[in-house]
Amino acid sequence: MTIAERIGSIFPTWDDIPEPYRLATPVEQREYLIDGALRRLDGAVQEVFSPVCIRTSAGQQRYRIGSFPLMTEAEALNVLAAAVAAYDNGRGAWPTMTVDARIRHVQLFAAKMKEQRDAVVRLLMWEIGKTLRDAEKEFDRTVAYIADTVDALKDLDRTSSRFTIAEGIIGQIRRSPLGVTLCMGPYNYPLNETMTTLIPALIMGNTTVLKPPRHGVLLFAPLLEAFCEAFPPGVVNTLFGMGRTVTPPLMRSGKVDVLAFIGNSKAANALQKEHPKPNRLRLVLGLEAKNPAIVLPDADLELAVSECLAGSLAFNGQRCTALKILFVHEEIAADFIARFSAALTRLGSGMPWEPGVSITPLPEQEKPGYLLELIEDARTYGAEVRNEAGGAINGSFFQPALVYPVNERMRLWREEQFGPVIPVVPFTAVETPIRYIEESNYGQQVSIFGRDSLQLARLIDPLVNQVSRVNLNSQCQRGPDVFPFTGRKDSAVGTLSVSDALRAFSIRAIVAAKELDLNRQIIGDITREHRSNFLSTDFIL
Ligand code: G3H
Repeated sequence: MTIAERIGSIFPTWDDIPEPYRLATPVEQREYLIDGALRRLDGAVQEVFSPVCIRTSAGQQRYRIGSFPLMTEAEALNVLAAAVAAYDNGRGAWPTMTVDARIRHVQLFAAKMKEQRDAVVRLLMWEIGKTLRDAEKEFDRTVAYIADTVDALKDLDRTSSRFTIAEGIIGQIRRSPLGVTLCMGPYNYPLNETMTTLIPALIMGNTTVLKPPRHGVLLFAPLLEAFCEAFPPGVVNTLFGMGRTVTPPLMRSGKVDVLAFIGNSKAANALQKEHPKPNRLRLVLGLEAKNPAIVLPDADLELAVSECLAGSLAFNGQRCTALKILFVHEEIAADFIARFSAALTRLGSGMPWEPGVSITPLPEQEKPGYLLELIEDARTYGAEVRNEAGGAINGSFFQPALVYPVNERMRLWREEQFGPVIPVVPFTAVETPIRYIEESNYGQQVSIFGRDSLQLARLIDPLVNQVSRVNLNSQCQRGPDVFPFTGRKDSAVGTLSVSDALRAFSIRAIVAAKELDLNRQIIGDITREHRSNFLSTDFIL
């Protein structure tokens, strides 16, 4: 069977789907979490269709997997009001609670979340088309992130459980929360990248409003009860609906203190502008990127091809960290293209639950058409698709396309494709990719492939001042989660890693007192009698 024939019949009939992976009952989600209760909404709903199409005698159609409520502006503002009340200007039970007690709530949530693994993994497959292996990885990585966050906070708290005396002043310095946090994750990691802002925000004492991404909403349904049971009223609240309806009014109210948003800068900028007191708003943003690979003439080609393949096509290229343009030295470009194209032919494609599958259907309805436009544009300026059936479309399925030779006149040169199109640029002088990086609006990461340590060192030194991570003979990626994840220019605001996130969602606060007998006695009384949760020498074990 040719690749084109395989793509033509890529979608299953219902009977082709193994029973354990079927989503027989659609998720008709009507509840949302507000002020510690699950309440029902009976207004307008958004129907959700899977990127997976089902073949029937009447043709093939995206499979309907459920629906969720479309909140009105007033309903959204009520959700925010619950978070504002729970924070209570820093006087609420949650922001004034001991770190130890907050940790126990988060651990309870993690235990309840783990019980929902199968349900969430299945919805990750059906809602965004993530492969079973990657969906399991996303879930498990998130659970591990929560455990690591708890450990990092214990460490942080232990070093804060002491006094510092300087210039006759006694001080205790700790980190305190910022207020009400609006957490919005992206559709490509709807669970992980929502939780990696939500959990640090919570554990530092902020109250939260969680807004799921455009795709990847239903997978939060199995977690609502866990949130409800694990956290005090108003600490976690959920918004459902169209982003453009439910989020601008929240920002406009001026009552959001932290915007944690992973997605595109257009939406982030629009939200930020709505806030009437911009200096009060803390931003934690993960935005676009166009990470390049630079493949030098002495690179280990087998390694470079395999890393560039994984880097550009894991989850169909829908990762902010994906390699989105490959600069390959012209001496090895022909060999690189031949090997990459052969590797693409071997790449498994199909439905998310099928073993060995890498390429799956795309959740964004308009994406295949957009990717095709990029290819057509590149053709106009002299590029070709260099792999069998590259760019072939069947409904929501798009066969990866290796486009070569790409140049600065093409849209693929500058637009973040966020999908399975791999632009390759041949170069003679290494100045070409360096210039590209310097002139780019983005500055997240780069991958360099080569063997000559002197040449690599000469690239590393300037490039670490242009991007936030230089990867040697390795694809770009966020993990391990203890590493700082950030970007320069339009790619990010703030740094996330297990320990950096705790800092991003808090501010240092200090209780200070002149070294007087009176103050010594007061501080002694407060700490000995455990009268304050902040001014305390308690040590978390
Ligand atoms: O979409 C961007 C993600 O943060 C990428 O994470 O490199 O672990 O896939 P990853």
